Amino acid sequence: MSILQEGYGKTNKGEEISEFIVENKNGMQMHLINYGAILTKLFVPDQNGKLADVVLGYDNLEGYMDNPGYFGSTIGRNGNRIAGSKFEINGETYELDKNEGENNLHGGFDGYNKRVWDYTLNETENEVVFSLVSPDKDQGFPGEFKVSVAYKLTEDNAVSIQYKGISDQDTIANMTNHSYFNLAGHTEKSILDHMLWIKASKFVPVVDSTAIPTGELWDVAGTPMDFTKAKAIGDDVQADYEQLVFTGGYDHNYALDKDGKGIEKIAEVEDPKTGRKMEVYTDLPGVQLYVGNFINTSSGAGKEGASYQKRSGLCLETQYFPDAIHQAGFESPVLKAGEEYNTTTIYKFL
Ligand code: BGC
Repeated sequence: MSILQEGYGKTNKGEEISEFIVENKNGMQMHLINYGAILTKLFVPDQNGKLADVVLGYDNLEGYMDNPGYFGSTIGRNGNRIAGSKFEINGETYELDKNEGENNLHGGFDGYNKRVWDYTLNETENEVVFSLVSPDKDQGFPGEFKVSVAYKLTEDNAVSIQYKGISDQDTIANMTNHSYFNLAGHTEKSILDHMLWIKASKFVPVVDSTAIPTGELWDVAGTPMDFTKAKAIGDDVQADYEQLVFTGGYDHNYALDKDGKGIEKIAEVEDPKTGRKMEVYTDLPGVQLYVGNFINTSSGAGKEGASYQKRSGLCLETQYFPDAIHQAGFESPVLKAGEEYNTTTIYKFL
């Protein structure tokens, strides 16, 4: 068990960035940087103890300062889309950046993934805690939001990500992590043979290629969206099904069949080649399945000379449903003034 801190270069404004290398007794390693509170590398053993880095990323800070696909990023204040880039809370209208057509994606142009975070190291817990004060009207959102993200690497090969926050006004809080996983190793080209199970009998359909929800929930049964029994991502990703045609492959939120509000296992991914398995646990109501439909050369050359392509990695982004602020039928993403935001997602490797 150890945490090593190293220099990771300077931002354009001259801010010093650090890399934190956290290792457990099995040799599993989690690399983090305080630029964007980003998970840059994750070395995970397979059944024979062979390590591979299973997340997509860049070799250096320049890569992460661009990072159009949000590799490894902490997303805030709101993950996913807000239609029309505006919303109302308590009768006031708030306007956000239109950074995806008319809509807001992942907080806007100045996402939390582009911020320099403070940090503290908790060596006994193998944990790095990043913190940020997001001022009132930051990205357009109401309230000063003091937020922290704690990444912990456990001895049973789990990466636990706990978000905590408090705001002095009612606001939206919907943080997520945008890691792209390829359990065969990030230099492998495809996740199409990865087997996926999601504990969701319903998903959030979208109106068109803008990926804004209709506000309904549809049954997955009998559609290519169904992962209630594990199947390979490649089985149906090209299906001639309007929802998949809109988004060029899976890019949808699943409404989780949770037993309650607590943390529970909601998804499992397995790479048949290496036998590596990942379980996902969360206390949140939804998970966005995104299979890298838009990864292309614009995401730049990846780590170790990798050139990532469409479907090189998959994301399972735990969250409130997209555009929940406009949908009375979706669980509200509003954090009340003075109340604690506290949510945990765990990616556990077997
Ligand atoms: C979205 C995708 C988007 C990707 C990268 C995902 O959360 O659902 O539509 O392309 O993030 O920005």
